[in-house]
Amino acid sequence: MITRRSFVAASAGLAMSALAAIPGHAQETVKVGLILPMTGPFASTGRQVEAGVRTYMAMHGDTVAGKKIELVVRDDASTADQTRRIAQELVVNEGVNVLGGFGLTPLALAVAPVINQAKIPAVVMAAATSSITEQSDYYVRSSFTLPQASVPVGTWAAENGLKRVVTLVSDYGPGIDAETWFTKEFTAKGGEIVEAVRVPLQNPDFAPYLQRVRDADPDAIFVFLPSGVGSLFMKQFADRGLAEAGIKLIATGDVTDDDLLNDMGQPALGAITGHHYSAAHDSPENKAYVEAFKSAHNGMRPNFMSVGGYDGMHLIYAALEKTGGDATGEALIEAMKGLSWTSPRGPITIDPQTRDIVQNIYMREVKEADGELYNVEFATYEAVKDPAKAEASGQ
Ligand code: DHB
Repeated sequence: MITRRSFVAASAGLAMSALAAIPGHAQETVKVGLILPMTGPFASTGRQVEAGVRTYMAMHGDTVAGKKIELVVRDDASTADQTRRIAQELVVNEGVNVLGGFGLTPLALAVAPVINQAKIPAVVMAAATSSITEQSDYYVRSSFTLPQASVPVGTWAAENGLKRVVTLVSDYGPGIDAETWFTKEFTAKGGEIVEAVRVPLQNPDFAPYLQRVRDADPDAIFVFLPSGVGSLFMKQFADRGLAEAGIKLIATGDVTDDDLLNDMGQPALGAITGHHYSAAHDSPENKAYVEAFKSAHNGMRPNFMSVGGYDGMHLIYAALEKTGGDATGEALIEAMKGLSWTSPRGPITIDPQTRDIVQNIYMREVKEADGELYNVEFATYEAVKDPAKAEASGQ
C-alpha cells in the first residue's frame, strides 16, 4: 500500500534528484523546524507560540516567493538536551532551512553549536534573556528582552511616588536581567530596593518569601516570573494579604499573562505591568489577529508568547520575499536584519547590528471590561532597544 507519507517522500526524492541535474535550481519547499515545550510545566508557552505561528500561516497562506512553507513541530519537554538533539535531527534528517521556537532561555542557548555549524537562522520566539542573541550570529529574536520590559517599569515606579520596593524574580537568566535592569533604573531615579528575592525556576512556593516581603512593608513588589507561573503567584499574593497591607504589585507582563489572567480573578485587579503585547491593544492589526486566533483555537486568548510566534513567522516570510526565495541560511539571516513591520503589538524592527527586536513597551493596568480581565494600556515608551545591548555598544 502506498501511504500518503511514502508517496510524498518518493515524489520529493524524485523531485530532488531531478532538480539536482539542473544546476542552480532551488528547492521548492522551505522547511521551518519549531522546537517548543509542548508538555510539562511550560506547555502553555509551546501552545501559544505554535498557535501564533499557525494563525500567521492561516492569515497569510503557505506560499512565499514561489516556495511552499512546511512546518515541522517538535516537543522538547523543556529539557535543553532534548532541544539540542531535536535541532540536530531536524537539520540532518529533515533538512530544515530555519529553526524557531525556544520556550525558555536554557533551551534557546542549547542550539548555538547546531546553528553555528549548520549556518541556519534560529528565530527566538519566546526566550528573553538579553545575552542569547550574542551567543551566535545566527540568532534573531521576535519575542522581547527582560531589560527592555523592566526599565520602563522602573521609570514608571520612580515617577509615580513609589519609594521602597522589594524585587522577586525567578533565579535564572531572565529573572536576573529583570532584577538588574529594574533596579538600575529605579535607584538611578531615587528609589530604594529594600530586599531582592530570587525563587527557584522549578516548583516555586512563594508563601515563605511573601511573608518576608510583608514584614519588610515596602510600597510595592516588582516581580518577574516566566509565563505560566503567574496564577500561583497571584493566589499566594492574595492569600498572604499583601494587597490588603497596601503593597502594590508591579511586574513585567509575564506575570499577568493574557492566557491566564481571567483565572487569576480579583487579586490581579490594579496590577501595573510593562510589556510589549496586550490582547487589548487597540489597533486594526490586533483586532484581526485576536479574532483569527480565537476562532481557530476554541476561543483561547492570544498572549505575548503567541505574537513571538506570529511575528517570528512574518520574519521568515519577509526574509524569503527579500531573497526572492533563496532559503540558504546566510541569505536568510542577512535578509532578516533591519526588517520593519506593523505587528499586532505595534511597530517593530529587527536591529541590524544586534539581531534583537526594537519595539514599544506599554504600561498597562489590569482592569475588568465586559466581565473579563485585561491588561489595559495607558502609556507607551516608543521604539525601545534592548538597553543591555545599547550599553554594551556605547549607545
Ligand atoms: C523566559 C521564559 C518565559 O516564560 C518568559 O515569560 C520570559 C522569559 C525565558 O526563559 O527566557
